[in-house]
Amino acid sequence: MLTASDSVDFDALRKDFPIFDSGPQTLHYLDSAATSQKPRCVIDAIDLCYRNQYGPVHRGLYPLAESATEAYEKARQTIENFINAPSPDEIIFTRSATEAINLVASGWARQALEAGDEIWVSQMEHHSNYLPWQRVCRDRGASLKVIPLDSSGQLDLDKADGLFGNRTRLIAITHVSNVLGIVNPVEKITRLASVNSIPVLVDAAQSVGHMPVDVQSLSCDFLVASAHKMCGPGGIGFLYGKKERLTQTEPLLLGGGMVDQVLADTSIWAEIPARFEAGSPNLAGALGFAVAAAYIEEIGRQPIAKREQELAATAFEALSEIDGVTIYGPENSPYRSGILSFNIDGIHPHDIAQIAGEHGVAIRAGHHCCQPLMRHLNTPSTARASFSFYNNKDDIAALVMAVHETKKILGS
Ligand code: ALA
Repeated sequence: MLTASDSVDFDALRKDFPIFDSGPQTLHYLDSAATSQKPRCVIDAIDLCYRNQYGPVHRGLYPLAESATEAYEKARQTIENFINAPSPDEIIFTRSATEAINLVASGWARQALEAGDEIWVSQMEHHSNYLPWQRVCRDRGASLKVIPLDSSGQLDLDKADGLFGNRTRLIAITHVSNVLGIVNPVEKITRLASVNSIPVLVDAAQSVGHMPVDVQSLSCDFLVASAHKMCGPGGIGFLYGKKERLTQTEPLLLGGGMVDQVLADTSIWAEIPARFEAGSPNLAGALGFAVAAAYIEEIGRQPIAKREQELAATAFEALSEIDGVTIYGPENSPYRSGILSFNIDGIHPHDIAQIAGEHGVAIRAGHHCCQPLMRHLNTPSTARASFSFYNNKDDIAALVMAVHETKKILGS
């Protein structure tokens, strides 16, 4: 039977990424959850921007400035289409997913919260979807509540007492765990939250480039992601917000380009989205981001999801056959993406990552900015292999070899 990932020649796509042809040693890059590699089309788009298209956005009337503005707004439309947002005005370019969450915490939650209210996150959140809520709750006399996880690491909604109750002002949840690769049931959460009109923010940093993401079918109020984890450039991300929510949100940054009238002691903000984009926009970043989104869209996120799941499933099977290896999270299931965290008994994950690195295998080790999750897993840190569609079976073989090598050297 032909599967979705069989219809795409992923090995040919690997050739789109110059980094895989750049060194003397084969690079087995298994750290795409940290940041992804860049295809030539994205590199070229950034190069072309600075060579031929670069000018001030929203700040000039001469042709170069006008075409820069047009290109920037076209990039916004590409991101709008990429997540099926109803309007380009609901896409705010930010520096990162982290900045986008901080924007909602400072600009929306700070005003929405009253003493005794609750914001809910889960125990698998990245610190960037935890700390901004912790601070705003502390400042407003509200409580930060945490959805617990079950023994397999999945959300235990039944044990989250009051999650959909009338003190909940926001649920902020990751779409895909950056440690366990678990895909959370966001649609179910938004459906249950809608009964009490509770807004939901989705951290899509680990999903938007890896699986279909449609804000209208997710029915979320806010969604954030960054470009660099989906083949795009560093330094740019976005916030999607429903228009009604964005109109309730104060800007995070004040300055040029976000204001309509500055009076002696007050000011009137510009319309949305300009209101949230103070300072000179990142034109090359936006253009590179749009090209990355178009590149991924052309391959298809359904085949990408399938390919990455297959790679992770193969790695899961191979690693689980090695004595002393513990893999975290549920066994392969439709609820897992291409992220795999593991440990070897008696060996520090930093040592695994270092020895793997010496063999050309790039994996991450540490707490992955998820200390609450590490407490649940009862370990200070893990080693993590994260797959992208440009990986292949050789990368898995190299990972397995690196694990054996680590055991041999460190005697586990
Ligand atoms: N959040 C990124 C990761 O999980 C940096 O590695």
